[in-house]
This record gives sequence, C-alpha cells and structure tokens, in this order.
Amino acid sequence: MTERSGKTVQLSDPASGRSAALPLRTGTIGPAGLDIATLPKELGVFTYDPGFGATAACESRITYIDGEAGVLLYRGYPIEQLAERSDFMEVAYLLLIGELPTAKQLTEFTANIRYHTMINEWLKRFFEGFHHNAHPMAMVSGVVASMSAFYHDTMDIHNPRHREIFAHRIIAKIPTIAAAAHKHSLGQPVIYPRNDLSYTANMLHMLFAVPCEPYEVDPVAAAALDLLFVLHADHEQNASTSTVRLAGSTGANPYAAISAGVSALWGPAHGGANEAVLAMLEQIGTADNIPKFLAMAKDKSSHFRLMGFGHRVYKNFDPRAQIIRAMCHKVLARLGRSDNPLFELALRLEEIALQDEYFIERKLYPNVDFYSGVIYSAIGIPRSMFTVMFAIARTVGWVAHWQEMISDPAMRIGRPRQLYTGPTRRDYLEVKQRR
Ligand code: CMC
Repeated sequence: MTERSGKTVQLSDPASGRSAALPLRTGTIGPAGLDIATLPKELGVFTYDPGFGATAACESRITYIDGEAGVLLYRGYPIEQLAERSDFMEVAYLLLIGELPTAKQLTEFTANIRYHTMINEWLKRFFEGFHHNAHPMAMVSGVVASMSAFYHDTMDIHNPRHREIFAHRIIAKIPTIAAAAHKHSLGQPVIYPRNDLSYTANMLHMLFAVPCEPYEVDPVAAAALDLLFVLHADHEQNASTSTVRLAGSTGANPYAAISAGVSALWGPAHGGANEAVLAMLEQIGTADNIPKFLAMAKDKSSHFRLMGFGHRVYKNFDPRAQIIRAMCHKVLARLGRSDNPLFELALRLEEIALQDEYFIERKLYPNVDFYSGVIYSAIGIPRSMFTVMFAIARTVGWVAHWQEMISDPAMRIGRPRQLYTGPTRRDYLEVKQRR
C-alpha cells in the first residue's frame, strides 16, 4: 500500500505489518525521486529495476534531459543554443566547471589542454601489439587503460589539483591516441599533434596528414566535427557514464574508469549505433528495400533493429538528431557532396518509419546516431572510427561526472543488489555420491 503526503511516500506491507516513510527528493526541474535507501532496513525488501529504467543512481548538476519534450540542457543551457553559438572547448569548460568561461578562462583552459596533447613515446608501443585489423575502439580502450600505468604515482583522486591535471591530460590525449589507432590500422606513422590548431582541426590533422606531404585542414570539416563533438559531449547517466561512475566509485585509477566507459560505449545499443547505422543503410541499398527492412525490425523473432532509432529517455525527437539532420544538408553542400545517396536513403527511411504504426506506438524516433555517420563519412572518417569520435567527445562528460562523484563527500561505492533465483542451500557431495 502506498500513500503520498507532502514530501514523503508511506509504504506499508500488510503481510509483515511493517511500514516505511520514504522521502521524496526533488531536483531543480524534472520529476521527484523516491529515496528508497532505507527500504531494506524498514520493510526487508529491495527494489527490482533491471535496466535501471526507474532508478536515479545519483544527484547531478551537469546535464538535464526531458525525454517527453525532447529537451537537452548542459548546465542549464539548451543544446540548440550551444550548438549554434558555442564550440567544443567552451562546452568542455562549461561541463567540467559549471559556468561558461570568460575570455581569459577559456584561453587558459585551451592552453592547458594544448599543453598535454602529446603522448608518452612508450605509450605508442602498445599499438605495436595490436593486429592491423584490430577495431580502433579495442585499441583506444586498451591504450587509455594503460595510461593508468603511466600516471599512477602522481594521481591522488582526493587532491583537486591532481584531478584537474587528469582532466586536462585525458581530454588532450584521447584524440592523439584515437588518431594513432587509425594510423596503426593503415600502417602509417603516427602523426604528432599540432598545437597551433583547434581541438577538432588538430584531430583531422592527426587522422589524415602524412609526413611526406603537406596537409591542409578543411575548415568546413573541422567546424562540422566541432559541432558533432558539442552534441556528443554529455548525456547524463547513460550506460557508459554510469560505467565510469561505477568503476570510479571503487577508487580505481580514473584512466582505468574512462577506459571502462570507452568499452561500454562500444556496443551497438549505445555509441556503436553510429557505425551500425551506416552498415544498415548500405545493406538496405535503395529505397525500395525499406519496407523489407522495416518488417524485419518489427519482427520480434529477428534480432534486427532499426539502428539509430529509439532511445531509453527520449520519447520524442532527440534534439541532437534534429540539429545533425539540418547540419547534414549544409555540410554536404559545403563539402561539395550534396547528392549523397546514403543521406537521401536515411531521410526516406526516417519518413517511412515515422508514419509506421509500430514506431508511432512505441514512440521510436531517430536518435543522435542516425545521421552522424553520414557527416563523418563526408568528412572522410572511416566507419570503424565513428564510435571513437563519439568517445573523444564523451570523454568530457565522463570526466565531469567522475569529478562530480569523487568530490561529493557522500560518495559511496556503487553496489547494486539482486533478486537471487539460483538453488537454495544444499550440502556438498563427494564426487562418488554425485549422479
Ligand atoms: N527498432 C525496432 N524496434 C525497437 C527499436 C528499434 N530501433 N528500439 C526499440 N524497439 C522496440 C522494442 O522491441 C520494444 O518493443 P516491444 O514493446 O514490442 O517489446 C520497444 O520498442 C521498447 O524498446 P526497449 O528495448 O524496451 O527500449 P530500451 O529503452 O531498453 O532501448 C535502445 C533503447 C536505444 C537500446 C533501443 O531503442 C535500440 O536498440 N535502438 C537501436 C540502437 C540505437 O540506435 N542506439 C543508440 C541510442 S542513442 C545514442 C547512445 O545512447 O549512444
């Protein structure tokens, strides 16, 4: 039985005669959360919520999503305004520090990031252990984890200055590591960062330059990448961010926690969807095949899902997808690739799916990954690197959440409970007694 009065919900279990008064916690916006921390003690039961669809694991001041209305705010600022008027370095500062920087603060922050762009020469040797066709996400996850071996003694997670240096280092070095993974796949030498370039221009330089000829970064491509990075920088307690928080809550080295985040992002239900969308579009091939693939997506006996569609929180348009769709038109035109058959196919697929009863009923809309691959491809980024691009941008969010968690005096190790469904107690049998 439940009863709500003011700021508490009274839960009582007639079977045991026990009851609990559970406080309702309110945030600045969004629905209240029922604080069930005392439930096991008061009522002798746990809550059961596989997939955490109804569970807030923490308080956070970083990002807010209203999934019904299609709203995304970074530190209160609407994503549409940041996408139009800000850039990735400014957004990184905003997410990490909580406020938009002054001109001086931004200059200092950008200089700090630039200062750390090189990776230790010994770290480069890790790539030699990977086969040339290793997936870059595997290489990035492995090499980021190995950074914990390089910055072990100098890292005290309870020292704010150490945490700040860690933040600068990982944000600065992850593009260098990502580009090195790409170069390893190609069998080309690793290209050193250029600190006179912007964050995304340098990323393109390290991906595409070769030592034997000059390389000019295309400003249109750098600006497009910057916008994609702004859109991907944070998304509150998604699977990879929750993984970083969980790993970090044990007091683990933060590079290892970020590496856990990279691994969690890789799956096709999460960041790996951008790669899967392009593979799916290529598989569909032409618009006349769309009905066949839609039927497959609706068929529960097939494992096929419409990649880039649906979201745990958004039950409306993902605002990031809308920005990217609009951006596709502009970027493709400016890169001289207006007639992009995959983009045309994606537009048609979206149109047909949004009129389909199955997708309407379940409120399945295109998400951030539906269109991002089209832009990455137009810039020349290979498909296997799409999720790596996402990881670079999301590193800022992971670090902001890790920082927020570690600096909270109330932090506890993350440790979910379970509903045990295995055998009840039984006694050990000697091998000759077993049948
Ligand atoms: N195609 C076909 N059916 C779908 C899809 C889809 N893409 N997404 C959800 N459904 C159906 C699902 O089968 C279920 O149907 P029913 O109620 O009949 O059983 C219903 O919609 C609810 O789905 P769910 O699996 O309970 O939803 P979820 O919140 O657990 O999963 C999701 C969210 C994003 C994992 C899922 O929508 C999906 O797999 N989408 C495709 C992969 C994708 O694009 N992922 C990127 C997510 S956004 C970026 C990011 O997180 O990195």
